[in-house]
Amino acid sequence: MNQVDYLRISLIDRCNFRCQYCMPEGAELDYILQQALLSYEELLTLIEEVFIPVGFTRFRLTGGEPLLRPRVVELVGAIASLPQTQDLSMTTNAFLLAPLAQDLYNAGLRRINISLDSLDPKTFDLISGNRGRSRWEQVWLGIQAAYQVGFNPLKLNVVVIPGVNDREVLDLAALSIDREWHVRFIEFMPIGNSDLFGDRGWVASEELRQQIRSRWGLTESQVRGNGPADVFKIPGAKGTLGFISQMSECFCDRCNRMRLSADGWLRPCLLNETGQIDLKTALRNGVNPAELRERVRELLTIKPEINFKERNSGNTGLYRRTMSQIGG
Ligand code: GTP
Ligand code: 5AD
Ligand code: SF4
Repeated sequence: MNQVDYLRISLIDRCNFRCQYCMPEGAELDYILQQALLSYEELLTLIEEVFIPVGFTRFRLTGGEPLLRPRVVELVGAIASLPQTQDLSMTTNAFLLAPLAQDLYNAGLRRINISLDSLDPKTFDLISGNRGRSRWEQVWLGIQAAYQVGFNPLKLNVVVIPGVNDREVLDLAALSIDREWHVRFIEFMPIGNSDLFGDRGWVASEELRQQIRSRWGLTESQVRGNGPADVFKIPGAKGTLGFISQMSECFCDRCNRMRLSADGWLRPCLLNETGQIDLKTALRNGVNPAELRERVRELLTIKPEINFKERNSGNTGLYRRTMSQIGG
């Protein structure tokens, strides 16, 4: 059985973008109220007294947009300084990253994944729901800042939408050639509020690989990363190309992660709410950490069954929650 030692922690369900595939403009979302968010103190208690003792050593901060949460640098410092933390990373849209990159690095963050769906500012704004001033440049500055500060690996996430940004696949793949940037193409997943899926469908990773192969050649990496991506390389490139193919391939059998929502629900699977535990309410009601550890251990034992059951049985939870609510 896979070791599940990686926790994706959503800090907030709000976002300053409105990506069409995640929380499109106009979608009605029930945001988590301030008092329902896990406080940093509660989160650190859960990490130290529950997650680390049951075997989690790797943590990723996600959103919505995690940089919208005040004092995030402080939180990074607190998690990074725990002796058991082996890996601390963040997934961000990078709009607020440029002025924070150095502080985040100094606080102990080492890995960062950034959404970059297009190199064309107009297409970028179309996808991310621009409400005025173009945001591409600010995001690009955030990526440059992260690179200069030394985040490594630096991963760029591209959700491929047919007819919108699929014509840019080669240009985006080329970003991995001269710099050690790891570009990942993600099959668009029908989740949450998006109506894109019905209109346009998704592009299979293998189709993208064929395009890239016929332009430069492509070699498969012997080393698998620690996530859902299949890793390839353009011969001679400094960085890699990853393909996250949740639509054309099931990678549940190598799943190594659970998710904690911003309001403290622990979920065993992105696509499935079965078995989820409300850790925040339990904590606020004074349930002791030993009891919480037991509940989490129990969820860990049934996780493989949940992954597969859901895939095999037609999904119930898949479309209801948005990525911004689950933490991507
Ligand atoms: P690392 O491998 O640690 O760098 O992280 P990651 O690639 O898992 O994280 P990131 O936040 O960059 O997510 C990239 C894409 O992978 C997003 O579209 C996620 O929704 C998707 N993803 C991450 N974990 C899972 C998972 O457990 N199941 C599925 N189906 N998709 C996932
Ligand atoms: N399908 C695939 N990936 C998605 N993301 C957000 N919504 C979707 C979706 N519907 C990706 C974003 C971000 C990561 C956290 O999740 O690109 O990089
Ligand atoms: Fe915000 Fe990320 Fe969702 Fe885009 S994908 S709306 S950046 S949470």
